[in-house]
Amino acid sequence: MTLKDDLSVIVGEAFTAEGLDHTLGAVKSADRPDLAQFQCNGALPAAKLAKKNPREIAQAVAARLGDASQFSEVSVSGPGFINLKLADEFMSAQIEAVNDGSRFGGWLHETPEKIVIDYGGPNVAKPLHVGHLRAAIIGESLKRILRFAGDDVTGDVHLGDWGLQMGQLISELQIRQPDLVYFDPAQSGPYPVESPINLQDLEEMYPVASAASKADPARADLARKATKELQDGRPGYRALWKHFVDLSVAAMKKDYADLDVEFDLWKGEADADPLIPELTEDLKARNVIEESDGAQIIHVARESDKKEMPPIIFVNSQGAVGYHATDVATIVDRKRELDPDRILYVVDARQRLHFEQVFRAVERAGYYAEDHLEHLWFGTMNGKDGKPFKTREGGTLKLRHFIDMVTDRALERLKENGFADGYDVAETNEVARQVGIAALKFADLSNPRTSDYIFDLDRFMAFEGKTGPYLLYASVRVRSVLGKAKAAGAGDPGPVQVGEAAERDLGLVILNFADVLRETYEKRMPHILCDHAFSLAQAFSKFYAACRMVDEADAEKRASRLSLASIAGGQLDLVLSLLGLDAPERM
Ligand code: ARG
Repeated sequence: MTLKDDLSVIVGEAFTAEGLDHTLGAVKSADRPDLAQFQCNGALPAAKLAKKNPREIAQAVAARLGDASQFSEVSVSGPGFINLKLADEFMSAQIEAVNDGSRFGGWLHETPEKIVIDYGGPNVAKPLHVGHLRAAIIGESLKRILRFAGDDVTGDVHLGDWGLQMGQLISELQIRQPDLVYFDPAQSGPYPVESPINLQDLEEMYPVASAASKADPARADLARKATKELQDGRPGYRALWKHFVDLSVAAMKKDYADLDVEFDLWKGEADADPLIPELTEDLKARNVIEESDGAQIIHVARESDKKEMPPIIFVNSQGAVGYHATDVATIVDRKRELDPDRILYVVDARQRLHFEQVFRAVERAGYYAEDHLEHLWFGTMNGKDGKPFKTREGGTLKLRHFIDMVTDRALERLKENGFADGYDVAETNEVARQVGIAALKFADLSNPRTSDYIFDLDRFMAFEGKTGPYLLYASVRVRSVLGKAKAAGAGDPGPVQVGEAAERDLGLVILNFADVLRETYEKRMPHILCDHAFSLAQAFSKFYAACRMVDEADAEKRASRLSLASIAGGQLDLVLSLLGLDAPERM
């Protein structure tokens, strides 16, 4: 139950006492915070039903609430809005109740679920693009939020390690170095430990191989053939493939670690591959799969469809397994290995059709319920020209360069502000990374997931306004305020007793956390939590400006304010961590 739920029950009882339905008592945050803290608009629909004047009903309900100890003021305004203000004692007790040093009032999912969240999708040997960056940022935050709400969540990186790019690389290498033992059919291993190529080679080879395959049909054929042989298990190719995957994964792990993104599972498309023959047989036997021009396809169109819904190609006419089949098989694999209640995919909006087809196919096959599969798609991060973000040279973004760019800019900003003075190099660099990543992540998360947004590093990096650096700074500030108070002998935190406007405003934000978290969870929209973080930081800042702390003469007030500050700081740090942001000790 959130605070609004509790208040809705109280107001609902007043409606019941008037002979009306208790659900009319639903309470929400006030539209006019200058007039009230909460409001209930139930008198308006009630009046329509009872053919009465809404103001009269509102007055009657308000009169019944007049004595309720929870409220200091109940009034009626406009056409029949019931405005509510909490009594200071009630608010203080509510704040005390969330002061547990861990959840700070955070909402809990009543029926926890086992969830797999698929939010990486980087491709072996291919550079990560902006879509992968957003997936990592949004997915990491959702994973943390769901986990905090009580769900049992497994994050899977779901590597793109099984596509045509692997065949392109193998055939490229075969042309460059035909004498490598890996290509000798007579040699089935063991292969030399000495690696034929390193990560730089891989990064150099991939664009060349991919361009060659696009430009030259003969090369495309070679690549397809190599892909097929790899998928069929040719030992030298498998050994090379394993080597490519290992090189890429080592580099990816470093990038994700710098982003504070952590996966529980490092499985990939290749892991689903062994299931394909078995599934193909099963689907054929049950007439889910049909043959069409030598390919195995599954129809997923429905009569109610308003748009075209093409069938999925499970296995193509050359026997190769594509992206759709891999995702179908991955769902079956996850069901067998983990048996989750739900699978979430944090993947680019451009793949909406793909997921719709896959979800329908598994529903048709009876492998998994479609309504327990969610594609949490997101919009594009654009450059200032409104087109998908590119490097200055016009190339695809490499995550590593991106991380370096935001870290360097953060370092500059910190130096300008004199923050870095007197810190050793290691600490300065780590703070710069945290600030840079916070700028990037917060900018990404604070836009509704489904919208596009424009990448503007100067704006994201500002130390004032709704930015990641501002929030880290706010967190550091609360800590330093409390530290200074302690050093100045201000005493210990004590029972909360709100009494000033700025204290009530801060208290209200703190108590709103449960509702915010529930809404964030239900909509799978981290920007709602971002708004909360910003409101909290602002309310703290106003409170700190308006209310004395160390030099407050009244010991009880002082103790109460120390508590308020520590609860606000604790909740802020918690929210930042749910967003995937890490506040430094000092900055
Ligand atoms: N590797 C894919 C890409 O780069 C993304 C994978 C997303 N996850 C999935 N289960 N399909 O587009």
